[in-house]
Amino acid sequence: MQEIIWAEKSSVGVAKLDEQHKILIGMINKLIRDPQAATRSETVSDVLGEMTDYALKHFAYEENLMVDSDYPRSKEHIKEHLAFRETTGKFCSATAIDVSGIPEMLLEHLSQWLTHHILEIDMAYKAFFQEQGVR
Ligand SMILES: [Fe+2]
Repeated sequence: MQEIIWAEKSSVGVAKLDEQHKILIGMINKLIRDPQAATRSETVSDVLGEMTDYALKHFAYEENLMVDSDYPRSKEHIKEHLAFRETTGKFCSATAIDVSGIPEMLLEHLSQWLTHHILEIDMAYKAFFQEQGVR
């Protein structure tokens, strides 16, 4: 499976958010590169838990920025974050039972969700944040 690539076109114009996106991509790429690594060092659910914890912290940070600056599409954006939390949670508990590595289907879900989310959903606030002077 291909790793996720962060390019300039992935920039949402807010340095802290770009930095968090890169960290999240790095965590998912680590799993894509070596899905069996999880079973060698820690349990699969620990590795996935670490990644989802970071994702949720990042969502909270992003949501605060949206709410504080009265971003008009924050409600629907927050819904997307909630949907990620639900679907990934379901995938993770199913995966916790299987300790043979991280299934391709889960990696595919993480990779596609994050790529779509950054390029479409997050990108929608870029111009707004720039107008508001959020850097
Ligand atoms: Fe987001």
